[in-house]
Amino acid sequence: MKPALPTDRLAVGGPASDDDRMPDAGRRGLLKAAVAGTALGGLPFAGCATTTGTRWQGPPALGFRSIAPMVDDTVRVPPGYQVRVLSAWGDPIGSPLGAPAFRQDGSNTAAEQLLQSGMHHDAIEYFPLPFGSSQSSRALLAINHEYTDDGLLHVGGMEPWTAEKVAKSQAAHGVSILEVEATGKGWQVVNPSRHARRITARTPMAISGPAAGNPALRTSYDSSGTLARGTMNNCAGGHTPWGTYLTCEENWHFYFNGGSAPIPEALRRYGVRAKGATRWHEHDARFDLALEPNEPNRFGWVVEIDPYDPESVPVKRTALGRFKHEGAMLAIAPDRRLAWYMGDDEAFEYVYKFVTRDPYNPRDRAANRNLLDHGTLYAARFNDDGSGEWLELVHGRNGLTRENGFADQADVLIRTRAAADRVGATRMDRPEWGAVHPTTFEVYMTMTNNALRGTPGRPGPDAANPRARNVFGHILRWREAGRDPKATRFSWDIFALGGDPSSADAGQHGNVKGDSYGSPDGLWFDPSGYLWIQTDVSTSALNRGDYQRMGNNQMLVADVVTGETRRFMTGPNGCEVTGCAMSPDGRSLFVNIQHPGEPAGDRSNPARPKAISSWPDGAAGGRPRSATVVVTRIDGGRIGT
Ligand code: FEO
Ligand code: CA
Ligand code: CA
Ligand code: CA
Repeated sequence: MKPALPTDRLAVGGPASDDDRMPDAGRRGLLKAAVAGTALGGLPFAGCATTTGTRWQGPPALGFRSIAPMVDDTVRVPPGYQVRVLSAWGDPIGSPLGAPAFRQDGSNTAAEQLLQSGMHHDAIEYFPLPFGSSQSSRALLAINHEYTDDGLLHVGGMEPWTAEKVAKSQAAHGVSILEVEATGKGWQVVNPSRHARRITARTPMAISGPAAGNPALRTSYDSSGTLARGTMNNCAGGHTPWGTYLTCEENWHFYFNGGSAPIPEALRRYGVRAKGATRWHEHDARFDLALEPNEPNRFGWVVEIDPYDPESVPVKRTALGRFKHEGAMLAIAPDRRLAWYMGDDEAFEYVYKFVTRDPYNPRDRAANRNLLDHGTLYAARFNDDGSGEWLELVHGRNGLTRENGFADQADVLIRTRAAADRVGATRMDRPEWGAVHPTTFEVYMTMTNNALRGTPGRPGPDAANPRARNVFGHILRWREAGRDPKATRFSWDIFALGGDPSSADAGQHGNVKGDSYGSPDGLWFDPSGYLWIQTDVSTSALNRGDYQRMGNNQMLVADVVTGETRRFMTGPNGCEVTGCAMSPDGRSLFVNIQHPGEPAGDRSNPARPKAISSWPDGAAGGRPRSATVVVTRIDGGRIGT
């Protein structure tokens, strides 16, 4: 018998009769009908939900004392909570092939790094063990490692630059699969575990979907255009209802060196330039455009990984489009077709949605194996009157024709940004993570910031991106027509404008109720309906006076019914707080702390970050390390309540 699929983190859409418009007032009214008549599956509601058609009162009241903004070198959580480090960069993942100890001086080899946690943790997802259970004491964690700071990664930083250092940097990228269990001493990484696995910038993977095999994807390594090597700059992520992980390739353009040859417009549109931000090309021909002009086309995709099968080959799913993918947030339609909401994180880029052609099969995991290869990609237009449209990115539709330069659907997908330009989508303020509310199915998405808006030669403010020089960012939300994730129309409003209430610049005041924040980035709904907001104010901006008042990067919790927002966590100096996941019982919260000690300038000098941060090992330790931490309540209760 096949086990039931976990439903605890799934948003399932449902029919609604109320009008599509989303007035600013009466938000609770919107929630009123959300629970009635909806397939809630096994959603744990902490006793607050009713399926009788009566009013849903929202999540239980926030039950913790908010903490002050802090500028110090530790992780702080509210009174009554505790936090401990689970796994940091360089810690053994528990591979059966070996568990080399982390060495603080950077002298671990590339081969050792392949058996250790990667650098700069970003997204995280919790997959209960065994598959199909709602186990809250044993799980697989899938963790993204977005990029490397080569000043910290190696002995002597980047001098001299060698093939071994390129190999180690590539080994520190990608994804870790860790098996973890709750023990009497708290959560631990299981070592050894047959599930433990690293996926890196060199791991063989398949390319599937409409663009697979296209001539633009063929290289000297792979003349078929269907076999890629590696994934990189894995930022946010997502999951499927059949228990696979989605990892999203974001700033992949940095890794390529264009050299002196002219760079085609199709690559320029994604930011590929004569000089990249890494020096991989000096020792790996894949990243030298003069030698491998098509290699960049093999990045910028969403990659599906089966964490339960350590032998599985990751698959790049081209139907979901190619851009600087931040994340992929799932919603399930009443007919079991699926939608994923996705941001393209760059100033003036777009919000996307992918809807599957076919319904998923909850009883046969294998039947969903290629579901992500067939469906429709859309880009969002946010009209000034609060309505919105999903614009199909389908060859032959909306001007995506041969006459207009689009050869076929593969071309539309490989040049997704150009296709979205053509159909007239709305240029946004850096769309980062999204989150789908577990009962209202409203979608929230962070627009982290866009200091360029309204500057000379750039688009000015519009209703959905209302501030010129938007340094503090905002959170948008929308509701699909009929509450159906497949809908092509929606209504939208702005949930909150980030800002500093005490700023002398009136244009930078936000409207957050409660504890304010800047540059919202990570976003996640827990099953109770709390919205978790994580911030990524850049290190250079943190040196400004107004940001200093708001403290180090942090995580907050919002009650989306009242808008009340409380600060729950502050991170160590120079970090970003990004990615969170919760055990199904709501009692363990896993959070990633990325790039503690990030210096404002040169990253290549190991001594500089150390001066800003030595988290988590302390002054006696040495190099700051990105890490996953676990937050629990001292009394063992549910987080946030
Ligand atoms: Fe990797 Fe847009 O953050
Ligand atoms: Ca991000
Ligand atoms: Ca960010
Ligand atoms: Ca980041």
